[in-house]
Amino acid sequence: MKKIPVGILGATGTVGQRLALLLADHPWFEVTALAASGRSAGARYADACHWLLPAAMPASVRRLVIAPLEAVPACRLVFSALPADVAGPLEERLAAEGCAVCSNASAHRLDPNVPLLVPEVNAGHADLIGEQRRRRGGRGFIAANPNCSAAPLSLVLKPLSEAFGLRRVSVVTMQAVSGAGYPGVPAPDILDNIIPHIAGEEEKVEREPRKLLGTLREGRVEEAQFILSAQCNRVGVRDGHTGCVSLEFERRPRVEEVVAALEAFRAGPDASGLPSSPPRPVVVRREDDRPQPLRDRDEGGGMAVVVGRVRPCPAFHVKLVLLGHNTVRGAAGGTVHIGELLLARGWLA
Ligand SMILES: NC(=O)c1ccc[n+]([C@@H]2O[C@H](COP(=O)([O-])OP(=O)(O)OC[C@H]3O[C@@H](n4cnc5c(N)ncnc54)[C@H](OP(=O)(O)O)[C@@H]3O)[C@@H](O)[C@H]2O)c1
Repeated sequence: MKKIPVGILGATGTVGQRLALLLADHPWFEVTALAASGRSAGARYADACHWLLPAAMPASVRRLVIAPLEAVPACRLVFSALPADVAGPLEERLAAEGCAVCSNASAHRLDPNVPLLVPEVNAGHADLIGEQRRRRGGRGFIAANPNCSAAPLSLVLKPLSEAFGLRRVSVVTMQAVSGAGYPGVPAPDILDNIIPHIAGEEEKVEREPRKLLGTLREGRVEEAQFILSAQCNRVGVRDGHTGCVSLEFERRPRVEEVVAALEAFRAGPDASGLPSSPPRPVVVRREDDRPQPLRDRDEGGGMAVVVGRVRPCPAFHVKLVLLGHNTVRGAAGGTVHIGELLLARGWLA
């Protein structure tokens, strides 16, 4: 198969670099265009980018010259990793020009015609693209990746919702510093510290899983009706968002039933063969002291959510701890996964 040329917007940032790495040897996509701010435009990627990842910068992008956003070359598919205020209008413009946009930004996640996608959770919501194209009158469209805490949470809620029916969920997150981009939170503010506020985060974590677990009916998503409360904290971890989750269901399950439902969870036929799909979307650990960001964030290439400490809850029914890699499953890996799903379902033809 001839590879599809793709672009990365915000290529020099935390998520943009992950995208460059994940797309370097991708079987279906080939990076041909990079764009970033005026600070980087005109320079070669290797010169403009302060590379943050332990793996070396891929040779295939080192010599690419970064375009300014005003002159992003036309690509069939772009992966966007721009700040939301910049992404909002630019993604609209590119979609209007016929481009498929897979976005990490929050700007369009809740737009009624924009599918918010986690391929194992709601691949069928991609059909919103048909509605979006009718509205735009062209081939272009926007598809969105959820917030970096909402994505792993939705992967855990999906099988539990199907098995037992969700009523109430409370999540307390401990979110890594890489979630704030680069340079992000200054070291003196986060070393030896926890910051109990991340602007706009709780609203996203409380809303987006309800769209992801919603039902597509007559061209729109009816949000799932369970109650979700989030408290989000920034902690001095480099990568990997942890969530302590308490759940109440329509019927109270035994702990073993919850573990069995999580372990039995597999991607549906649309997502199971995609290059970025991990063998198991949710991996359950039995040890008392797992999951841990340092040890578990790279499970399934960073695309699996690791769950541990599943136990009875005196206030709700069951409580557990989950961990997801914020820049892989929660960002770059998630959008590449969406691009794969859309190609497999014929939306990039
Ligand atoms: N970090 C995560 O874990 C994570 C997870 C999920 C979603 N997201 C979302 O992904 C997006 C990118 O986040 P990030 O963490 O990668 O941020 P980041 O590290 O701050 O990188 C931002 C990127 O956008 C470019 N940029 C910034 N301001 C710009 C402007 N005015 N015009 C054009 N380009 C501009 C930067 O280019 P220069 O280098 O040239 O300045 C850089 O390439 C955000 O919407 C964020 O909310 C992030």
